[in-house]
Amino acid sequence: MAINLSGRSFLKLLDFSSEEIRYLLDVSKEFKKLKLTNTPHKYLEGKNIALLFEKTSTRTRCSFEVAGYDLGMGVTFLDPGSSQMGKKESIADTARVLGRLYDGIEYRGFSQELVEEMAEKAGVPVWNGLTDDFHPTQMLADLLTIEENFGYLKGLNFTFMGDARNNVANSLMVACAKMGLNFTCCGPKELFPKEELVKECEKIAKENGCTVRCTDNVEEGTKNAHVIYTDIWVSMGEPDEIWESRTKLLSPYQVNKKVMNNAHKDAIFLHCLPSFHNLDTTIGKEVHEKFGFKEMEVTDEVFESKQSKVFDEAENRMHTIKAVMYATLK
Ligand code: CP
Ligand code: NVA
Repeated sequence: MAINLSGRSFLKLLDFSSEEIRYLLDVSKEFKKLKLTNTPHKYLEGKNIALLFEKTSTRTRCSFEVAGYDLGMGVTFLDPGSSQMGKKESIADTARVLGRLYDGIEYRGFSQELVEEMAEKAGVPVWNGLTDDFHPTQMLADLLTIEENFGYLKGLNFTFMGDARNNVANSLMVACAKMGLNFTCCGPKELFPKEELVKECEKIAKENGCTVRCTDNVEEGTKNAHVIYTDIWVSMGEPDEIWESRTKLLSPYQVNKKVMNNAHKDAIFLHCLPSFHNLDTTIGKEVHEKFGFKEMEVTDEVFESKQSKVFDEAENRMHTIKAVMYATLK
């Protein structure tokens, strides 16, 4: 049956079938070709979108903006400092107002419930640009990057190292289970993903002929992995006080040369970014002064190595977000 996502919101990958995710990846590839050959594709001319950010962003915001312009749409960016959202007006009321003015709404915020509520109230497609629980548009870019490197997805071994219950790790577990990659989360037991989500993903993985496992053993967890992925140790919205305990808990799970050498010989390194791989950031410097780390979740050596595909991955955010907007608005 032909895939039709018109009018749907994009809130989490659990809401989408493997075939629908496949379709979005294929549409992304087409858009990437059009962009790289400078072929105009203003397929959504006359439509307008609003981008709402309650947390900061570089990649997600810029990807939505550029993708919107390329598709011929008008784009409005709103952050908490320049709108009534949250302070004087509830998310439900904001959604109902914006739904009258715009054809689609991107929302980056805190709880998953808020983006779900926005989608329920807006009456137009809502796209989740990251919540505390999930980061679904990131997943499409990650899957596309993996497929570009290996030519296929099914059967690859994928290892996430570090804070395995954050939004990116949760989403990766779902993405791998849906698309047939064997998922391993490798981190301290305290930060394993929620049991309920692991169980749900195990069920999905079984249907797709792959596996889900959690381990605190680095050698075991990274052995023969085709993809090694990590994310920052403290996510947006978490308190600053947590840095001390997190650095202690997560430093054994840093992605370094030893980890990459233990992985598959063709392994690639991915990271959603931003990353603390040197001392060129304010937070990186502060953490160095307080706790002595010069690099955190990944060493500069791995980040800058040939195995690292992080900037292809970042570029793919735009092509994949374009596919999501096109598929849901056309
Ligand atoms: N990966 C990602 O979402 O980056 P931003 O926070 O810069 O949008
Ligand atoms: N886990 C990170 C992802 C940033 C793209 C955060 O939420 O800050």
